[in-house]
Amino acid sequence: MKRLFEPFEIREVILRNRLAIPPLANNRAGENGEVTDELVLHYRERSADVGLVVVEHSFIDPQGRYTTRQLGIHDDSLLDGLSRLASAIRAQGAAASIQITHAGSRGCSDVLRAPSPVVHPRGASRVPEELSVSEMKGLIELFVAAARRAERAGFDLVEIHGAHGYLLSQFLSPITNKRQDGYGGKLENRLRFPMEVVEAVKRAVGIPLMYRLGAEDGIEGGISLHDVPRIAPLLREAGVDLLDISGGLMGWEMVNERPGFFVPYAEAARRSSGLPCMVTGNIHDPALADAIVREDRADIVGVGRPFLKDPEWARKARVSLMQ
Ligand SMILES: Cc1cc2nc3c(=O)[nH]c(=O)nc-3n(C[C@H](O)[C@H](O)[C@H](O)COP(=O)(O)O)c2cc1C
Repeated sequence: MKRLFEPFEIREVILRNRLAIPPLANNRAGENGEVTDELVLHYRERSADVGLVVVEHSFIDPQGRYTTRQLGIHDDSLLDGLSRLASAIRAQGAAASIQITHAGSRGCSDVLRAPSPVVHPRGASRVPEELSVSEMKGLIELFVAAARRAERAGFDLVEIHGAHGYLLSQFLSPITNKRQDGYGGKLENRLRFPMEVVEAVKRAVGIPLMYRLGAEDGIEGGISLHDVPRIAPLLREAGVDLLDISGGLMGWEMVNERPGFFVPYAEAARRSSGLPCMVTGNIHDPALADAIVREDRADIVGVGRPFLKDPEWARKARVSLMQ
């Protein structure tokens, strides 16, 4: 029987256990998105006893920045800091991943770019401009350059952010994607741009590729559980090695309703694609995290907010499961 504190392999990367810290934005980066000492300390303090740490969402393009103190991965000048961050995590024995992202219509820059000129349903007030196909090709190059930086900085894995209503989630959702070309309309078309990003990144880097999938928009007519068996196999085909399941347009906050809210979505993704899955969302009890692995409902369990309050959450969880 598999247990939470037993190893897991993703291609050549061995995780010492199946407990992960999911991406948790700190807003502690420098003005240009650079790694700060404060950020390194934050991750170092939390990486002991954890199998995998996914560093917070890092912008691939200043135009797609979400907040002013967000971490960046858009420029080679950031490499030294990113290397320090990866080393700090790996020195504690955890595997290090980093999430790369573009905010689309949720950005903070003067001009917003998105699949369609649709105001984001999550409290935004500005109408974005529709991305042209040539601009989209440019963005693929920026995702590739960011993933290459992750690899050069020494990260073991890289995660593409396709959740929480940011750019790739905006392409997938029929609420925000109203395009009339080959990137809009049926699900396969809406997934086309995210898949092109995955394919290009996969060709460019050797490290395993994670994809955070927004599997539930939380809005009528949006992405929901019944779409997952169509999406997950296509992401596998495009080159994803590990799916990381979370919320879509309206974010992850809906998980507060029920512990393990996204577990059925991870099960559907796993079953349909055969890919290993990580699942996160109000799994704050070590016994529940262990049961999800034991019952073979997901491969890796992410625990987020508890680590913000208690950097030693993993050690305490391991002790509590031994009793
Ligand atoms: C302060 C904070 C920052 C977050 N930043 C990110 C992020 O950068 N990228 C991401 O995909 N999810 C982000 N999330 C969502 C978490 O990864 C996670 O899915 C969410 O906290 C639910 O899991 P939990 O109940 O274990 O905390 C963030 C959540 C919080 C509370």
